[in-house]
This record gives sequence, structure tokens and C-alpha cells, in this order.
Amino acid sequence: MGSEAELAQVADEVRACTRCPLAARRTHAVPGEGNVLSDVLLVGEGPGAREDATGRPFVGPAGQLLDELLGAIGWQRGDVFITNVVKCRPPGNRDPEPEETAACAGYLDRQERALDPAIVVTLGRHSLRRYLPGARISSVHGSLRRSPTGQHVFPMYHPAAALHQASLRDTLFHDLRGLPAALVAARAAIEADRAASTEAATAAAAAASTVAAATDDVQMTLFQEH
Ligand code: URA
Ligand code: SF4
Repeated sequence: MGSEAELAQVADEVRACTRCPLAARRTHAVPGEGNVLSDVLLVGEGPGAREDATGRPFVGPAGQLLDELLGAIGWQRGDVFITNVVKCRPPGNRDPEPEETAACAGYLDRQERALDPAIVVTLGRHSLRRYLPGARISSVHGSLRRSPTGQHVFPMYHPAAALHQASLRDTLFHDLRGLPAALVAARAAIEADRAASTEAATAAAAAASTVAAATDDVQMTLFQEH
């Protein structure tokens, strides 16, 4: 399946999903949306009131700030793909429970595989925990990191946090201005990994053909002896 078809398939499944208790109180599930060709995946926490009402990610006050943040580097939401760790609104915007995050994780796994982004921007603690378990947002925000599975991760504070704590606003803008350079670095690292594995594959192929030639020699010798 092409990535666009797989993303549409995931969205359909999310809209019909009843895998966790959050299904019961949702108005709309929020699968995520954006540019299916983007190299940048933004992962928030979970839908809020306005997201639940509309079925779209980051369309409330935190979303307005996110639009401003992207605008500061000349990007628009159509340049990236945006989704959340849980696709249905936790009541009263409480934190998602570990069981809910676990129940929902397979959808985000599939979205990641379909998009194959060069960089994942985590927004908030719950998203950070998925990619960098044990990392502290206060020490990793605004820097390019590598997840245990090799993904390139750019952790940020959640935009909603800046709505309550004004001092975080400057931090968010400062961090986001580092994103284009982090994307360039992530792409370069991916290319270097690819080149290294091509080199390793070429070396392995050369070794295999040496073995094959040696085996041929042995077989030839055996053949000639009979
Ligand atoms: N906060 C989130 O984490 N996600 C949204 O989609 C909206 C607000
Ligand atoms: Fe399904 Fe995820 Fe919604 Fe739970 S939060 S019902 S797992 S889509």
C-alpha cells in the first residue's frame, strides 16, 4: 500500500476505534493530518475540546500558537504532518493513562512507517516519553536527539504550556528556530547511515562472491578429479 493510502486506512480505523475507554466520550476521533510527503512529523499529546469538536489536530488555542511558531520559520501546517499520542480526547484534558497510550500506539507506529519522516518533533512530555524514555524535557528541549530505535527526535515543550506560563513562549520560539538546522542534520545523518550500509552491503557481497568463487574452485577440482 502507498503511504497515502495507508495513512487514509489508519485514519478510517481510528475513527471507528473502540480499543480504549476514551472512545466512549469522544465526539470525533482525531487521526492527524498534513502533508503526506513531509519529512517532519509533529506529535502532540491528545485532542482538546476544539479538536474533539472538529476532528482536526491543534485547532484550538495551542494550535494557534503552533501556527505562529511554524510561521516564525516560514513554514505552514501544510508543510508538516501533525498527530497525537492518543487520538481521542481525554476527559477534561487530563493526561492520557498509560493503558490508553499503549492501546493507541499501533496507529502512531503505522503513521510513522507510512510517512518515514526524517525528524519527529515531540510536543510535550507524553510524546517525548514515547521516543526518549527517561529524558527530561528541561535538558533536551530544542536539541536533536536519537531514539533507541534510531529515529531523529527534536523535543519541544507543549505549546499549551506556554499559554499558562508566559516565560515558555520565548523558549518555544527559540527552540523552533533551531528546527530547520536540525532537519538538515537529521537528513545528513540518514544519508551517512545509508551510505555506510550500502558500503557494508557491497563489502558483504564482495566477500560472498569470493566465497562463491572459492566454492566453485573446489567444485571444479572435485569435478576434474572424477
Ligand atoms: N494539544 C495536543 O496535544 N494536541 C492537540 O491536537 C491539541 C492540543
Ligand atoms: Fe482507539 Fe486511540 Fe481512540 Fe483509544 S484513543 S479509542 S486506542 S483511537
